Amino acid sequence: MALIVRRGRLPATPHTEFRFDSRFTLEEIHGSFGFSGPYSRKIHLRRYPTVQAKPPRLGDFDLTPAAPRAKLALQPYHIRSSRIPFFSDAIRGRVPLLHGPSTVVSVAKPKSSTPKDAFFRNGEKHELYYVQEGRGTLQTEYGSLPLRKGLYVVIPKGTTYQVFLETRTAFFLVIESSSLIEFPPHYLNHAGQAKLTAPIVETEIELPRLASPIDRLGRFAIDVKHDGGRITRLTLGHHPFDLVGWEGSLYPFGFHIDNHHGIAREIHTAPPMHQTFQAGAPPSSGFSICSFVPQMEGWHPKEIPAPYAHYNVDSDECMFFSNVRYGARTGIIEEGSITFHPGALPHSPHGRAAELSTASRGRKSQRLAVMLDTFFENLSITQAAYRFRDPRYPLSWHAAQLG
Ligand SMILES: [Fe+2]
Repeated sequence: MALIVRRGRLPATPHTEFRFDSRFTLEEIHGSFGFSGPYSRKIHLRRYPTVQAKPPRLGDFDLTPAAPRAKLALQPYHIRSSRIPFFSDAIRGRVPLLHGPSTVVSVAKPKSSTPKDAFFRNGEKHELYYVQEGRGTLQTEYGSLPLRKGLYVVIPKGTTYQVFLETRTAFFLVIESSSLIEFPPHYLNHAGQAKLTAPIVETEIELPRLASPIDRLGRFAIDVKHDGGRITRLTLGHHPFDLVGWEGSLYPFGFHIDNHHGIAREIHTAPPMHQTFQAGAPPSSGFSICSFVPQMEGWHPKEIPAPYAHYNVDSDECMFFSNVRYGARTGIIEEGSITFHPGALPHSPHGRAAELSTASRGRKSQRLAVMLDTFFENLSITQAAYRFRDPRYPLSWHAAQLG
């Protein structure tokens, strides 16, 4: 992201002597693309983050996606993630559902906060949370971000964090990517500012609040995800949230789905108009994330608001239904449902949904959904996704036709 943020205190000139309360501070660069991409400059109070107090060891949990036991025929899936039980915390309770070489889609339905003295760091993927339910705080070395329903939170690879709940339970959709997750560059002008025609504006980006550095010695565990989901526990001898200041363009941030200001068109608007984020280099690699927010349906006198049957042969499509008001599939999907259309499988409205949608011509829709379309990356389903699938889904269009 082009927005350069500065928090706390740090020297204006990089890599120069800077004292905080008369102590000599220590500089760290959290960078991407090998010193050439977005980065942040962090100023630690008195210790480097390299000071491990105990040897690294394998963690007591694992996030490696498990494949279903049987070899499966190609089929569309409806994964009823609302039926996955609430358990553990936002990290240990993460359930991978779909995965490919550079993308993982999971849900986490925690019923507790992460432990106070244990931290998490994704060492191999950038993360995007979408808060389906619950409130809490994302506590990171860059500061804290309040979590609430409908918020997207982007957490760069390598960020150390914890997730504290204020509600009894929470429900997060979690998307991981090997590449940076950012606003689409075609929304930005040459100065890196959102164009006046873009559905997003920078002033609605939610930035972390940095508190005073924590200057505490002890044993602080950091569980690092690497190698496809294996966890290694590092132990620092000091609290990792010890920054006196930081500046840069690589940091966690929030963006509420309501702040995706939908672009309407006289005749049905195709998903690229709903894009909020991207990862990698679409359309050659990575993925696109679209926000299907409530918006005015087309007002052409012959408009059909429901989508056309479609298949995009370079994409596997995953759709998370934040509510059930998605006309094309009403009665089939539930709140929290995930549909997955892999391998160029066409999908469409069912039954009379397209015809019935003409009644909402020129009216505001009530839908709320998050879509991920990969580019040249096929995703596989996991054992958990298979267990929570709706086995009738591949025939749901046929059943609706008969009904
Ligand atoms: Fe689709």
